[in-house]
This record gives sequence, C-alpha cells and structure tokens, in this order.
Amino acid sequence: MSSITRTSPADITAKVIASFDGCLDERLRELLQVLVRHLHEFATETHLSQDEWQVAIDVLTATGHITDERRQEFILWSDALGLSMLVDALGHPLAAGATESTVLGPFYVPGSPRREYGANIAEQESGVPAWVHGRVIDVDTGAPVAGAELDVWQNGENRLYAVQDPDAPEDHLRGRFRTRDDGSYAFLTVRPVPYPIPDDGPVGAMLHASGRHPWRPAHIHMVVRADGYATLVTHIFDQGSEYLDSDAVFAVKSSLLRRFEERSGKDPARPPGVDRPWCSLVSDILLARGVSTRVEDHGRTA
Ligand code: BEZ
Ligand code: FE
Repeated sequence: MSSITRTSPADITAKVIASFDGCLDERLRELLQVLVRHLHEFATETHLSQDEWQVAIDVLTATGHITDERRQEFILWSDALGLSMLVDALGHPLAAGATESTVLGPFYVPGSPRREYGANIAEQESGVPAWVHGRVIDVDTGAPVAGAELDVWQNGENRLYAVQDPDAPEDHLRGRFRTRDDGSYAFLTVRPVPYPIPDDGPVGAMLHASGRHPWRPAHIHMVVRADGYATLVTHIFDQGSEYLDSDAVFAVKSSLLRRFEERSGKDPARPPGVDRPWCSLVSDILLARGVSTRVEDHGRTA
C-alpha cells in the first residue's frame, strides 16, 4: 500500500492558520487567524467554485479602481453589508438612555462654517423650511450641556449633499452650532428627502443583482461633541419617510425617528423669514460621559 498521504481542504486551512502562530503581535495574530478560519469556512460551506472566486477578484479589482480621494467604495461595501453598523454597535455599547449612534456616511466634510443659534443652513432654495431644535442633556444627571458642538449636514429636495452638487455653494445645508447655557440648540433648514447611495459602481451592481434597492430614508446627520462626553455620530430620521424598513445601509434605529410637524405659513411661531408652509422638529440629544473621539471623513466625499 502506498504511504503517500493526501492533502484535504481541512489540512490547507489548518496549515494557513498555523502559519501565523509565530506572530508576536497578539492582536494581529488573532485577527489573521480568525479571518482565515472564517474565509476558509465560507469557501468550504458554499463550495466556492473557481469561477465564483474569479468574480470576487474582479469585484475587488473594480472596487479598487473606482476608489479615489473622493469615492470610497470599500467603505460603501462595509455600509451596504451592515458591517459599518455592526462595528459601530460593538465599539459603542449604549449607555442606558443615551442617544443612539449610527453611521457617519460618505458625505461628511469637516470644517463646516460655525453658525449662530437659529441660523439658516440652506444657502439656496431647497425645499420645505424646517425648524429643528432641542437640548443637549447629560444622560446621567439630566443637566444641560452648554457649549456642545452640533456639526450637521443633510440633503435638500434635489436629493444631493452640497459635496455632490456642482450647483450648490460649498457650505449649503451644513453648519456647526453651539448649545446655549440651557443646552438648547436650533437651526433653520429644509425637510430632507430619501436618496440612493452611490450605485454606479460594484456595490450598486451587487444591490441590483440581488434585488435590493439603494435608497436611504430621509435624515439629518449630526456629530455632537462636548468636553468630557463621548462624541456622538448620529442621524435624526424623518418618521414619515419611505425606506425606514429597508435602509440600504441598515442605519435606522427606532429611537432616532422624529416627527416633522407640518405647520402653516400663518403660524405665529414661524421662524423669521418664513411665510409659507413649513415644519418643525424637536429632538433632544442625551450624551454620555466619556472620551471624545476624532471623526474622520475617510476621504469620502463622492
Ligand atoms: C449617508 O447617509 O450619507 C450615507 C451613509 C452610508 C452610505 C452612503 C450614504
Ligand atoms: Fe445621509
């Protein structure tokens, strides 16, 4: 009988995992070994064919080709596969009662203009006026957080963020506000609308091939920073929006839904300069004590 032993698929996996045994960086060793284990399990469980492997290589290659300093298709994959939300949830265990976090998204651009309490962030006509206001509050003590910074950005009725829109001023529909001594903030904006995530690349091809749509429900983005508090990256979702149950990036959390109350142009409480139908929205933000973190734009402005 021949003494030649055959190499099984499991032998291959074991050998690759063992190749990292000598890695001195413990965390790197764990990441690589678990990655290999899951990657090999994936191929084994699905009986990944050579042709399918080639398609995956082509998709990764196309993802690299479309990615540049304005377009980050790798993060879009992470968003569309729910990984961004999962990593955020794992990294930010929720302090009881605190406002929940969600994805940053590709349209965050640091350095928005500082604006006064109540200022209008719509630098050109872009939809139904919306007065957004509330208070930033310490979740443990209930005390107002004075001097917190709210960095906000959103789209208007043409669906586009300023960074996507060649016809919009650079600072359109974005701004940074400071809370007053009583923790209050307010700004005038327009009601945001649903929009599709960039779907002209490999992520879009995956969505269309799998019968998913690229739409996100209407929302306003916010990063809230205050000394001594954990930085919060979140959205306010329009509770009347389409796509709340099928957000392309899985970023909806029910605690973040808010009502845009429709109001008349004759309402005495209308904001200065508004004389047509408008809406108002109240949203308090509950911050937990912690270490503030830097929020990167990941070079994502496509
Ligand atoms: C956004 O809300 O701006 C967004 C988030 C993830 C992917 C695409 C867009
Ligand atoms: Fe968005």
